[in-house]
Amino acid sequence: MEAIYLDNAATSFPKPPEVAKAMYRYMTEVGASINRGVYASSQEAGLVTLTLREQLCQLFHHDEPTRCILTPGNTVGLNMVLRGWLHPGDHCLVSAMEHNAVMRPLHDLAEEGVCFDRIPCDGEGRMDPVDILPLIRPNTRLLVLSHASNVGGAVQDAEAVGRICREHGIPFVLDAAQTAGHWPIDFVGLGLSALSVPGHKGLMGPSGIGALLLAEEFARGLKPLITGGTGSRSDLEVQPEYLPDRFESGTHNLPGIFGLQAAVEMILETGLDAIRRWETALTGMFLDGIKGLPGVRVVGPADRKDRVAVVSLDFLRMDNAEAASRLEQEYGILTRCGLHCAPTAHRTLGTFPQGTVRFSPGFYTTADEISRAVRAVKEIAGG
Ligand SMILES: Cc1ncc(COP(=O)(O)O)c(C=O)c1O
Repeated sequence: MEAIYLDNAATSFPKPPEVAKAMYRYMTEVGASINRGVYASSQEAGLVTLTLREQLCQLFHHDEPTRCILTPGNTVGLNMVLRGWLHPGDHCLVSAMEHNAVMRPLHDLAEEGVCFDRIPCDGEGRMDPVDILPLIRPNTRLLVLSHASNVGGAVQDAEAVGRICREHGIPFVLDAAQTAGHWPIDFVGLGLSALSVPGHKGLMGPSGIGALLLAEEFARGLKPLITGGTGSRSDLEVQPEYLPDRFESGTHNLPGIFGLQAAVEMILETGLDAIRRWETALTGMFLDGIKGLPGVRVVGPADRKDRVAVVSLDFLRMDNAEAASRLEQEYGILTRCGLHCAPTAHRTLGTFPQGTVRFSPGFYTTADEISRAVRAVKEIAGG
């Protein structure tokens, strides 16, 4: 039985073939670190790293590659922002749909005197930006928003949130784990202070690499989470002030950089619009196919507007873990079941504590695979 991979919200698979080729080439032909040698292979590694920063800036409409910080992943990027920006006495706003990559650091910080409020979301996981207004306090120093829910797939109105943040002088941080590589993101247009993205989900690169794009003023006030050797200003025992070095201590993940650069290049060549159109079409096919089935409840937005390719189902007549296990064992369909590291999102969507079975097609998913998934859900749910 051929496997049908529908867990792209966890990590994309397969990757574009160029990704493994670029990583293999780095491992077998380049091998050097950056900023630490003047020989040709080190220069080449430096050039690929710079190209990656420039291409990420192009993709996310950011204006300065030195403020595109390469991170070990999205969770680290979000920790860098939260722990590097908030101080005891500060107040932070988050939505009710945040991932634990935001909530766990915030709870840690709460023990040190940071406080936070959750902006409520409706039963489909959507936030009404006007609900931010009564929660703003004189000490509100940050708003962090999950651009799209990894549980229900609803995309938030980041433009309206950005406008409110600008009007009130609150730095706005977007967690684009489920939108980077799937959905247009205009860093400058949204007035973002920081944008954190994983390399291994919609950007279709390897795991262990991500990026944190920063606005100039925000970068100036952000304390580095990690300090150490940068290969630059080695005469100093203190961290250099300039970017990206201030936030990039230690030897870089160069296989990851080469892989991600190849992936982002493929996305730019294919065009984000084409990727989004295909993923939206697959989502629509799946939603249409399971519409009205009595044995399942579709969690998240009922329509396909402003929705990424993440569809969670609650199987009403059986345990969701059993449904996911049957999908794999009887149909070869790989989904993810449980609470997806977002317990408050499930409380909002009415699926706590049972969780959901999440189907997340990706750019390489075929229409035939979606038809087979629909058939399997019908058979399992008894519809
Ligand atoms: C909304 C959201 N934020 C943050 C993360 C954490 O990303 P990573 O595990 O790649 O660091 C995820 C991963 O699933 C996510 O879906």
